[in-house]
Amino acid sequence: MTTVDLPLLPLGRGIDRASERGVECPGDLPPASDPDLVARALAAKEALGERLFVLGHHYQRDEVIQFADVTGDSFKLAREAAARPDAEYVVFCGVHFMAESADILTGPGQQVILPDLAAGCSMADMANLVKVNKCWEELKTVLDPDAQVTPVTYINSAADLKAFCGNHGGIVCTSSNAKAVLEWSFARREKVLFFPDQHLGRNTAHMRMGIPLDQMVTWDFMKPMGGLTAEQIRGAKMILWKGFCSVHQMFHVNHIAKFRERTPNGYVISHPENELAVCEKSDFVGSTEYILRTVRSSQPGAHWLVGTELNLVNRLADEMKPKGVTVEFMSPMVCMCSTMFRTDPQHLAWVLENLVEGKTVNRIRVPEEIAAPSRAALDLMLEVVD
Ligand code: 13P
Ligand code: SF4
Repeated sequence: MTTVDLPLLPLGRGIDRASERGVECPGDLPPASDPDLVARALAAKEALGERLFVLGHHYQRDEVIQFADVTGDSFKLAREAAARPDAEYVVFCGVHFMAESADILTGPGQQVILPDLAAGCSMADMANLVKVNKCWEELKTVLDPDAQVTPVTYINSAADLKAFCGNHGGIVCTSSNAKAVLEWSFARREKVLFFPDQHLGRNTAHMRMGIPLDQMVTWDFMKPMGGLTAEQIRGAKMILWKGFCSVHQMFHVNHIAKFRERTPNGYVISHPENELAVCEKSDFVGSTEYILRTVRSSQPGAHWLVGTELNLVNRLADEMKPKGVTVEFMSPMVCMCSTMFRTDPQHLAWVLENLVEGKTVNRIRVPEEIAAPSRAALDLMLEVVD
């Protein structure tokens, strides 16, 4: 497949199925003002019964998460999608790359649906096949990447990048198995090219594996040769793509410093998509599932500062309050994942009612020539557990 290097499209407009960019939802949605949207969607869900399986990522809003048969982080949701061969329809309340992974991991008779096609991921958009192929070709001018470099893509990436990894002896990782995946990768080749999130790569390699920062370089995908010299590339163990999450970049060490001043006995927990300085100042670092598990296991009186998306943190704060545990959001700014937020009762009612009528809207289908190598890299991901 040819991938064209397009400028970013405004969310919800235009069509670019080869990436995480915004695309239009076809057809007529019910009016957002309909007060019965939740009831309509619940009735449609009930009518579909066992034929339907709904997955919900922890960043989804409350009105949506109530529909999920299973909630989880990216790793758990990918595993759950693969483990439900009897569900005819898998509705993914998450973002595009998650639904693509679910389509790749489910059987040919199953249909994966993303309620709003504009639910992409801005970090995933920071890498694409054109740029990664260009990087690989440029690396060939200084070393032999197929012998020396394992490509590792964070699951937050388009399916063709997972296929790139599958085709080049690489693997997919998630925030919950990144260390084990890096160990797997270094056992095969001396270097890793890690995309698109520099922070997950750097935090995992440095904080959990002790790889010195001077053995890591950042590949600036806007510059020839990533803005690096041949010597820098040859000397690096980790080549980190210069991508980041627009939500997690809002958390800063000064938020942690102020919390520590006010709450000397409090704990700080962060997602590994935060920058290294934030993770180093945190007491715990892990995936969304890990964050929930850790905070839920704390004793009454515990006070937490949490550096991840707002919907998760607000819900956790409400859950823990009656147990005497205080949960605070790390940033004074309202930072939500705006693309996760696109899934709403309006889109859910629309996709579910269409399914009841025998029509599938917003199906996510990865062409088999991309799905096959991508599946190889995703299957490896599911096997390699931290
Ligand atoms: P998790 O896999 O930890 O849920 O993270 C997904 C994500 O996109 C975080 O921004
Ligand atoms: Fe992507 Fe960041 Fe949203 Fe996660 S929180 S889906 S990485 S934009």
